[in-house]
Amino acid sequence: MDKLVMTGGSSLHGEVQIAGAKNAALPILCACLLTADTIELHNVPDLQDVRTMLKLLQQMGVTVDFPNPSDRSHFHLNAATITSPEAPYELVKTMRASILVLGPLLARLGLATVSLPGGCAIGARPVDQHIKGLKAMGAGIQIRKGFIVAKIADGKPRLQGNTILTDMITVTGTENLLMSACLAEGTTVLENAAREPEVSDLAELLVKMGAKISGIGTDRLVIEGVTALHGASHAVIPDRIETGTFLCAVAATGGEITIKSCRPDTLDAVLVKLNEAGLKMKKGTDWITASMTGSPKPVSFRTSEYPAFPTDMQAQFMALNTIATGNSRITETIFENRFMHVQELNRLGADISIEGNTAIVEGVEKLSGARVMATDLRASASLVIAGLAAQGETQVDRIYHLDRGYDRMERKLTQLGANIRRMK
Ligand code: EPU
Repeated sequence: MDKLVMTGGSSLHGEVQIAGAKNAALPILCACLLTADTIELHNVPDLQDVRTMLKLLQQMGVTVDFPNPSDRSHFHLNAATITSPEAPYELVKTMRASILVLGPLLARLGLATVSLPGGCAIGARPVDQHIKGLKAMGAGIQIRKGFIVAKIADGKPRLQGNTILTDMITVTGTENLLMSACLAEGTTVLENAAREPEVSDLAELLVKMGAKISGIGTDRLVIEGVTALHGASHAVIPDRIETGTFLCAVAATGGEITIKSCRPDTLDAVLVKLNEAGLKMKKGTDWITASMTGSPKPVSFRTSEYPAFPTDMQAQFMALNTIATGNSRITETIFENRFMHVQELNRLGADISIEGNTAIVEGVEKLSGARVMATDLRASASLVIAGLAAQGETQVDRIYHLDRGYDRMERKLTQLGANIRRMK
């Protein structure tokens, strides 16, 4: 198993290029199932979850063609023939986003079998809202031997449009229902829809494919179903969480970096908090220059749905708060178990305690390097940030979590002057 070994204390300087967003790329890959035509994608991040999703699609009969094999960010997908509308347990258990094939398969073929995702390190993460929405659109759904077995009700050739109000805001739930609604008969209204930029990016691709969607970027999506979608070409939106992760890193280590190919307008809540922490920033439409001197100021925040502070940045910002000049409170409202990095940050000398869904961080002057273990994707990024700011050597084990969601993180950090290396 690979690990990252870093020696803290170097400030970061230089330029870094942001990849396409993982959480936009994953639903976008699944959207290829909605058409027999070819979908051309650009700016797809080269990371493990994307490779897993491609493997799942290929198992179903989708062809993947890289015009330039050395460029993994650009490829064509074709789902003209879907031989097996099934997502097996082996793949779903490694990546919950596999649930995103359910809606498109059902809408296009009228049937799908997808393994029910199990529990997850950051919370229970049920998919009841995906199922409730698809049922409201006329799908018959049963859970059999750990699988969601879905079929359009007898006598109906297509899913039926309906108004669906989810009990909570769900990102992949919205995406699954949005994709299904594009090929449904009649109009679907998704109330309480997630407004995350990744949902909007998927919607933009669907519109290019011929879907009729209004309300993109709002919490009410109205979809007029069409009988078929066609091919399209799309560049995945830049990853706001990767951008935020590098900003937290420079805020923790000091220095000055320019982040290129990013979308600062998708990061408002994070930029406001980084500014409070003392990070000086200048930005354009697709770049941010950030500089930091001295210790960060403590910043309290609570996570919430977009456009508020994202849960996917909570762990990285917590790493920054551990070395702030004072105390902060971080409240996690999206996932019930997303504080597993706390114990590991404490191993590096941080002083964090947990009260319910709030972490209380007492800033310390210095962290000190230690051996720590990554528990999930964003927790891994938080440990890397802490390790870069700590005195001495830090070893982060189990970085397969990091590889799931970051495109060449340690290489990008090395370019910025960090002393970090991968050990096999
Ligand atoms: N929920 C339910 N029932 C459902 C769906 C969701 O109870 O049917 C609950 C969840 O348990 C959670 C809350 O609703 O408490 C929100 O979950 P959501 O469905 O929005 O999360 P997700 O779609 O499974 C996506 C991202 C996550 C990100 C969350 C929140 C993808 C592939 N994943 O997950 O990304 O944290 O939205 O923004 O888009 C990550 O990248 O590290 C990551 C975990």
